[in-house]
Amino acid sequence: MKIIVPYAGIVLLVGPSNSGKSTLLKSMIEKKQILSSEVVSSDEFRVLVSDREFIDWRERPKDEADCLLDEYQTISKEAFSMMDSVIDARCRLNKLTFVDATHLHPDDRKRYIALARKNHVPIIAIVLDIPLDTLIERDGQRDHPRGKRRLKQQYQTFKREKRFIKKEGYTSTYLLDETKHIEFIRRTNPI
Ligand code: CTP
Repeated sequence: MKIIVPYAGIVLLVGPSNSGKSTLLKSMIEKKQILSSEVVSSDEFRVLVSDREFIDWRERPKDEADCLLDEYQTISKEAFSMMDSVIDARCRLNKLTFVDATHLHPDDRKRYIALARKNHVPIIAIVLDIPLDTLIERDGQRDHPRGKRRLKQQYQTFKREKRFIKKEGYTSTYLLDETKHIEFIRRTNPI
């Protein structure tokens, strides 16, 4: 499948954990279809602001789990604030940015649609629709498994949101059920 990516603007990846967002972008970097500097990822910004990519609060006593969840949310807030500043600056400079985060909640997606509009650049969405069984199976191979419960919650949210995404106001939307045969075609001029 060919995905036409704009010359400048925002490419929003959408999909639960383990749907393969980072893997797809990594393979595009390896194939030299995109630059590593064109990708921003919430995981990397969490590390930049806090030295930690993920906090595992599963199987902890409730009080401790609540504290860890609070800490994770505080870190995420700072990470997204930094990441959004970078995306905004790149839009102002007429650069293309791939945003690697789950984007399961409508408010998160709307923020980037507004950012693109403000900067008069296009925004496209690449939506990864991968079966829950596959998400769970892949989780076992990760350094920091996200956990079955969390994946199930994310998958439910994704299933609910999927039908609305097309009408949210993207320049174009791509719905993928696998990421093996993807090719990015880049527009070579701003028009
Ligand atoms: N993976 C896989 N086959 C794919 C895509 C991903 O086996 N086609 C595996 C990766 O090797 C990794 C895990 O699934 O171990 C998560 O992949 P990743 O690309 O990091 O998924 P993301 O959607 O980016 O997950 P997150 O939002 O949690 O960062």
